[in-house]
Amino acid sequence: MNPLELVGAEPGPGFTVTLDGRAITALPGQTVAAALWTAGITSWRTTRGSGRPRGVLCGIGVCFDCLVTVNDRPNQRACLVPVRPGDTIRTQEGTGHGG
Ligand code: FES
Repeated sequence: MNPLELVGAEPGPGFTVTLDGRAITALPGQTVAAALWTAGITSWRTTRGSGRPRGVLCGIGVCFDCLVTVNDRPNQRACLVPVRPGDTIRTQEGTGHGG
C-alpha cells in the first residue's frame, strides 16, 4: 500500500517537473523532496568537502541536508519547498554557487 492509499488522499492531477532535465511526475501538495522520493530518487546533493551524497535527513527543515537548486535558486530545502508545475530542479554540488 502506498502512502496515498494509507491516508485516503485524493490529490488533483499530476504535473511534470524536471530534475537535471529528466521529466518527473509530481502531485499537488507534494514538496520537492516528496516528488523526488516518489520518483525513486533519494539523493540530490553532494557535500562541499568530500562530495558525499545527501538527500532528506530530518524532513522538517532543520538539518539542511536536502539542499537543492529550484528554478536557478540554490540552497532550497527540498523538504519544505512545495513543488509547482514546470519547476526546473537541479542536483546541487557543494554550495550550489559554482555554476
Ligand atoms: S531534510 Fe532536513 S532540512 Fe530538509
